Amino acid sequence: MRLKDKSALITGSARGIGRAFAEAYVHEGATVAIADINLEAAEKTAAEIGPAVYAVRLDVTDQASIDAAIAAVEKRAGGLDILINNAALFDAAPIVEISRASYDRLFTVNVAGTLFMLQAAAKSMIARGKGGRIINMASQAGRRGEALVAVYCATKAAVISLTQSAGLDLIKHGINVNAIAPGVVDGEHWDHVDSLFARYENRPLGEKKKLVGESVPYGRMGRAEDLTGMAVFLASSEAEYIVAQTYNVDGGQWMS
Ligand SMILES: NC(=O)c1ccc[n+]([C@@H]2O[C@H](COP(=O)([O-])OP(=O)(O)OC[C@H]3O[C@@H](n4cnc5c(N)ncnc54)[C@H](O)[C@@H]3O)[C@@H](O)[C@H]2O)c1
Repeated sequence: MRLKDKSALITGSARGIGRAFAEAYVHEGATVAIADINLEAAEKTAAEIGPAVYAVRLDVTDQASIDAAIAAVEKRAGGLDILINNAALFDAAPIVEISRASYDRLFTVNVAGTLFMLQAAAKSMIARGKGGRIINMASQAGRRGEALVAVYCATKAAVISLTQSAGLDLIKHGINVNAIAPGVVDGEHWDHVDSLFARYENRPLGEKKKLVGESVPYGRMGRAEDLTGMAVFLASSEAEYIVAQTYNVDGGQWMS
């Protein structure tokens, strides 16, 4: 067990990739807070995974909610060892149709949410004096732009940059900050992406998903489980000397 007795908080883990991370962490011996804006879904997921996880209501756009979630983990588990900043929103539109509301929503959740969760976790970890691990969810979208995905791509580029700055600043406290950049991962997130591409590229539902899956060098879309090995590794003692990096786990989509 590589995360025995570690306490983790995973944002947006009621479903999708975050849920798979929670299951993998429990398998490695950790206790996990399923922290999500959808408390009902978080509670259902927690009940399904078992006693090593617990649901916490969290809105990463609300500082009081962030502070309450960190306090809940400190109370329940005695402190926080690992944060995964996983919650994020997606939107797509041609440049001339991007709305300020969409821009504000995505930057508030994906960028400010990541930064202020990371800050609150770091404060808690510094006060406890045992170091910690912070893993941010970036994306291949943060490696280059996409015609219809300008805002989401920009938020994920910002996550890569924040990972670098926070990684450099927090390592003196024994806190390693790194990121994972997935490619295309099947699930409810991509059902939403597919429906937006269907609208803007005039395609039948499901066609974009099929095309992107075929274009992955590995030969298929990713599954949430394809990312868990990296998430466990970055939180484990084996990753002690890794600082401020973003790792592509994308079936060969991007090389950097
Ligand atoms: N699925 C992909 O293809 C893909 C590819 C690259 C990167 N990513 C990134 O991986 C991460 C997880 O993706 P996913 O596909 O599992 O997403 P998802 O949409 O399935 O899940 C996101 C979760 O975040 C929660 N959430 C939304 N707003 C929140 C808020 N304000 N506060 C707290 N929780 C909130 C949602 O309730 C949901 O449970 C995201 O950061 C995403 O950008 C996903």
